[in-house]
Amino acid sequence: MEVIICPSTERANLLTAQLIADTVKAKPKAVLGLATGKTPEGVYSRLGQLHKETGLDFSGVTTFNLDEYIGVPTTHPQSFRACMERELFSKINVKKENTHLPNGMAADLDAECERYEKAIATAGGIDLQLLGIGLNGHLAFNEPLSSLASRTRTKALTPETRRQNAPAFGTLDEVPTRAITMGVGTVLESRWAILLATGSSKAEIILKAVEGPMSAVVTASALQMHRRCTVIVDEPAGEWLQMKEYYRWVFANEPEWAPYRDLVLGR
Ligand code: PGA
Repeated sequence: MEVIICPSTERANLLTAQLIADTVKAKPKAVLGLATGKTPEGVYSRLGQLHKETGLDFSGVTTFNLDEYIGVPTTHPQSFRACMERELFSKINVKKENTHLPNGMAADLDAECERYEKAIATAGGIDLQLLGIGLNGHLAFNEPLSSLASRTRTKALTPETRRQNAPAFGTLDEVPTRAITMGVGTVLESRWAILLATGSSKAEIILKAVEGPMSAVVTASALQMHRRCTVIVDEPAGEWLQMKEYYRWVFANEPEWAPYRDLVLGR
């Protein structure tokens, strides 16, 4: 795991977007794993800008989102499909048929989960998986006590997660109770995982996920087993980390980060 502490939320978003952009430039047929939620919105807006201003080309890219609510049609503005269309897909030239989310309206949800896993495998696996983290440490909708070996399946949402997502739906009653989510095991198979967390509300859970013991209680801590995981935080989200000095040294000195130092640390 590597941790990059950025001086502002904006720099964290810029860095994340640039890493995605560089992945797509290096591999025009890249398979991207995408996340919804408030956190990646700034990243998506930057990718839209890079497409518009620099011609960043997504025409060969395939995307798989982490999760989708069960029982919420794609026409509902809070379905993750609608969120993705609004935040990203409508701003770039990805082909609609290459964008994938689980179908939370499927008649046979177990079959749908199996289909989704197969679709990821058929696409060749995920090159870069973008992740957020819930206040309870969930990765995608892998709520506490999810098996760290889990695959795509249905999952009941915790009251905390439903409360966290309630503002988007208006009332708590309208927030779905279940979702289809990639499993922790599915996420761990991605070739590169980038976890983005911003704001002081994430400081405690970032400490637990990054420096705490690996535990199914904090499913994001399973990223400690990931072959290549980059955690990008702004100062408030990284505030509680104990080894900040080391993380800063690595980013300032390791050659692989040289191309990104000005973007993150430049004035
Ligand atoms: P957020 O959600 O980006 O809206 O904080 C993250 C998550 O719950 O995974």
